[in-house]
Amino acid sequence: MDIQTILQKDQLNKEDLVFLLGRTDRAECQALYEAAYRVKLEYIGNVDYYRGLLEFSNRCIKNCLYCGIRRDNTEVARFDTPREDILQMARWCFENQYGSLCLQSGERQDEAFIAYVESLIRDIKRIGGGALGLTLCCGEQTEETYRRWYDAGAHRYLLRIETSNPRLYATLHPQDGHHQWQVRKDCLAALARTGWQVGTGVMIGLPGQTLEDLADDILFYQENNIAMVGMGPYVVHHNTPLGNEVTAAGRDTRRDREERLRLGINMVAATRLYLKDVNIAATTALQALHPLGREMALKAGANILMPLVTVQRYRTQYQLYDNKPCLEDSQDECRHCLAGRVASIGDRVGWGEWGDSPHFFNHLGDKG
Ligand code: 5AD
Ligand code: SF4
Repeated sequence: MDIQTILQKDQLNKEDLVFLLGRTDRAECQALYEAAYRVKLEYIGNVDYYRGLLEFSNRCIKNCLYCGIRRDNTEVARFDTPREDILQMARWCFENQYGSLCLQSGERQDEAFIAYVESLIRDIKRIGGGALGLTLCCGEQTEETYRRWYDAGAHRYLLRIETSNPRLYATLHPQDGHHQWQVRKDCLAALARTGWQVGTGVMIGLPGQTLEDLADDILFYQENNIAMVGMGPYVVHHNTPLGNEVTAAGRDTRRDREERLRLGINMVAATRLYLKDVNIAATTALQALHPLGREMALKAGANILMPLVTVQRYRTQYQLYDNKPCLEDSQDECRHCLAGRVASIGDRVGWGEWGDSPHFFNHLGDKG
């Protein structure tokens, strides 16, 4: 197969995706990224949107084998950000023209948590008369809960499927009945039914994951009418079962990390080429593997950045993986640093705009 022939095609198929994802040659990767950036220019423009990312609590009832804040990690102190601090950060986002705020936490399904988030949404929507877009990332919930939170005023929800392969999913999660791929998938459908703009994503470079799996992930986004994609390389966390296994097997060398980074960028590019009009995040995990990881993703078709607005004293307690960047920076530093990164690649920031996915409006009413 010849990369130029594939890049000129109007619609790629799975075989093309596998081929593109597997490119390692520098010139071929460059051609792939340039083609994806051209599609971004055509469908989105050279504009990148900010979502302030506020990690407000690291309490989690789940025990995902890869994650640093899993329930059984007793090394990490648990925190809840005081309500007033959250509201102050939300006001900061509004005043600094971040179009939108993303509230993320570990997963809890108790009524106290559900009601707390609901009232938080209402308070945040009062800021600037509803001007701040609001995204939630609080895990698996019932359709009733998703409805309550939507009715309170949030409108975008991120829930990663982690991998579209149920067998691979099973190797990454405890088999205790509480970590089921089908439940995760049903949640995505419930979110779409409730009216949310739905985002999902996967981890890239997982042990046992093939290029076919990754191509299937992209097909999964399309089949489920996904408006936003947030995906990033798998990064080892030292105090997790999966992290220990990967390290003990000698599979977290510098070369392994470079490989996961390249695969991560290839995935961004292939997803942009295939889905065209969705929002794609340049995730922080990319930067954990390379200082310029996020810029590389923007140049390969991503259009969303999520500067950290987590209250500074809690940042070290929200480490899903090792080497999380920006731990020491204040939200002001993150704002400037990222604006510089955007300008460095010739893009501009969509200040004060919600930056909703064009896909959502192009496909309203499609089955998801
Ligand atoms: N490496 C990369 N991403 C991770 N996540 C959790 N742990 C890791 C890790 N070790 C991602 C998962 C989850 C999101 C909140 O963070 O995809 O859905
Ligand atoms: Fe909890 Fe999410 Fe981490 Fe799983 S990935 S342990 S649900 S915070």
